[in-house]
Amino acid sequence: MEVVILPDPAEVARVAADVVSALAQRTARGTLGLATGATPLPLYEELARRARHGRDLSGLRAVALDEYVGLPADDPGSYRHYLEQRVVRPLGLQLDALDGCAGDLAQECDRYEQVLARGVDLQILGIGLDGHLGFNEPGSSLRSRTRVKTLSTSTRTANAAWFTGREVPLHVLTQGIGTILDARHLLLLATGAAKARALAAALEGPVTTMSPGSALQLHPHVTVLVDEPASSRLSLADQHRHAHSHKPSWQAL
Ligand code: F6R
Repeated sequence: MEVVILPDPAEVARVAADVVSALAQRTARGTLGLATGATPLPLYEELARRARHGRDLSGLRAVALDEYVGLPADDPGSYRHYLEQRVVRPLGLQLDALDGCAGDLAQECDRYEQVLARGVDLQILGIGLDGHLGFNEPGSSLRSRTRVKTLSTSTRTANAAWFTGREVPLHVLTQGIGTILDARHLLLLATGAAKARALAAALEGPVTTMSPGSALQLHPHVTVLVDEPASSRLSLADQHRHAHSHKPSWQAL
């Protein structure tokens, strides 16, 4: 696991955009897993800016991490809508996403597992205040696969800003932790002091279902891009800074 501590969210976005651009350059048709939420917004803005300036990322195939149950694709609260507006259209990508309105949700999850079985090259992740990854709340099995989950009250409260005047859906479809760990490279972004506790638990605490992000410790290729406030509880912060400043120039993220 490589942890890179950067000054602010803009720099996190810039370095993350470099990682995505490198994937597009390296592979003719790479698969990019997309998270939603507030954290990756500056990254998606930076990628859209690069696309407007001629960087062609359209060879990438995008897959979504999770979706609310019961929201149609054109609902502004749905994650498909979020991704279409902010990433898929600006970059000219193809998107495979979960259908939260499918008649048979279990079958939809199985279908999605088959889509993902083709391989995800790079999965962008955020982390919840309670340590969730995707919508795998504390208590989720570390080997879980794509399935229906019930959101915790704290996550629904955290996401209420996206749902003015209506309730945050109670149920979601989410890639499982085991599914996420199948991606070749995981890119976790964490910004802001509010994420410091969850991040420290994920990176430095025991591997436990109580901290779903701690499952990242089991993956062979994880890059964590974190701003100063989010890194404030990492006991290894100085070591991460030292390692990064002495990183061999030939070694990419
Ligand atoms: C979103 C997702 C969630 C978010 C997490 C952090 O697709 O899967 O795990 O990454 O809730 O959300 P923000 O970035 O809004 O703090």
